[in-house]
Amino acid sequence: MDQFSHYIDGEWVAGDETFESTNPATGELIGEFPRGGEREVSRAVDAAEDAFDEWRALSYPDRAEYLWDVYRALTDRTDELGELVTRECGKQINEGRADIVEAAHMVEWAAGNGRHPHGDVVPSEIGSKDAYMRRKPRGVVGCITPWNFPIAIPFWHMAVALVEGNTVVWKPAEQTPRCAHAIAELMTDAGIPDGVFNMIQGYGDAGAAIVDNDAVSTVLFTGSAEVGHGIADTVGGTPGKIAACEMGGKNAVLITDEADLDLAVRAAVLSTFKTTGQRCVSAERLIVHTDHYGEFKRRFVAAAERVAVGDPLDEETFMGPLIEAEHKDRVLAGNQRARDEGVTVLVDREELAADEIPDGHEAGHWTGPFVYEVEYDDSLECIREEVFGPHVALIEYEGGIERGVELQNATPYGLAGSIISEDYRQINYYRDHAELGLAYGNLPCIGAEVQLPFGGVKKSGNGYPSAREVIEAVTERVAWTLNNSPDIELAQGLSADVKTDD
Ligand code: UN1
Repeated sequence: MDQFSHYIDGEWVAGDETFESTNPATGELIGEFPRGGEREVSRAVDAAEDAFDEWRALSYPDRAEYLWDVYRALTDRTDELGELVTRECGKQINEGRADIVEAAHMVEWAAGNGRHPHGDVVPSEIGSKDAYMRRKPRGVVGCITPWNFPIAIPFWHMAVALVEGNTVVWKPAEQTPRCAHAIAELMTDAGIPDGVFNMIQGYGDAGAAIVDNDAVSTVLFTGSAEVGHGIADTVGGTPGKIAACEMGGKNAVLITDEADLDLAVRAAVLSTFKTTGQRCVSAERLIVHTDHYGEFKRRFVAAAERVAVGDPLDEETFMGPLIEAEHKDRVLAGNQRARDEGVTVLVDREELAADEIPDGHEAGHWTGPFVYEVEYDDSLECIREEVFGPHVALIEYEGGIERGVELQNATPYGLAGSIISEDYRQINYYRDHAELGLAYGNLPCIGAEVQLPFGGVKKSGNGYPSAREVIEAVTERVAWTLNNSPDIELAQGLSADVKTDD
């Protein structure tokens, strides 16, 4: 069995305590990884601090040059790395490859942005003053990333952070350490200078050590609401330190009386069951106008009964396994909570039949679609709290678009959502009133592109630790003003005279 290491200050570093990564579809062992903690994090942060001055002194295009090497490796090795993603996180193989493609897009965006303008020339009210907004790197950036996009999301955080001149200490998800190792290899193959990029394998305590370290100026987090809110709380109390956190949602597809039903059913299936419901943008609510409810329900239920759950390496599979046994327990508990709240279950493939589980995959964390209908009631937890699995509620509504959007907004979260409608007035109303960071029309609510901002509102996020907008989190803006006159003239009519007693 392969043994792996942390990557600190340009060296592969072993650890005493270890943990294992296994294939969620087969239970097969993937490797043994060192479990880092406060000690390793502190070494990595010291290295990142030491490396900062030299790294920030390079030009943007020179820093980007390292990332272009990573970009080329990601595009040359998409199939191989995609298969690794599928083996370690269980996503169907087309999604495994898409993870690599998304990573490549992010690296391309960040490296290309190294040649784009980075500030503003701002007019001054005094003719002899030049005013600018300039960006500076913030220093050591701590990145904490989830398992469901084990290659793409680390690059959402790190590609821009590095090109902007920051150094990085990264704690990948403990479920996908082999993918993390592959990223560290891409960085070392690119010759990234020692200390600029550091990776500590491990669990939440290693993440907490990053958050608590005084020398970490910025924490970028993508993951569960529970952890993200804790990080935001901790960092919020520390002056000068910021945390950009992106959490999940209780996302919905809104199907109005003006919807095209073929498109609605397809968008709903893609939004709910792709990635086995384990995207932070996956939908767990389908809000359907009464005019279409019966027909939509019949067609959606038929599709949910039949979606292909199975070997994620098989091109014909639609849904792979859940990530791990503990997560399966959580998803099943979410299903049970819905039952306890009195919903009407329409599809229950929670325990798959033995013949649905492919040979050699008996140890996988399998579950299938769980679909129910429920009358809207704001006290129901099942339609407010995220399950992160193939668990979905059908909610019927009557009335106009205002009522549909009111139900869309009736959760504490606001990450992604979509409206299915052929009526532009309904679509525009939704665009303006849905409380979402990512909103779609006549599409599933998954599949965002990296050149758009990615993040949510309400309990889904307090910033943009991802994709284009991460630049705001990893740079400081400096208002820089230069006087070109030998005299001093102040704005707002402020007197620049120095008055003395005599
Ligand atoms: C996530 O849902 O955890 O928008 C990330 C998407 C992907 C990223 C999803 N580009 O579906």
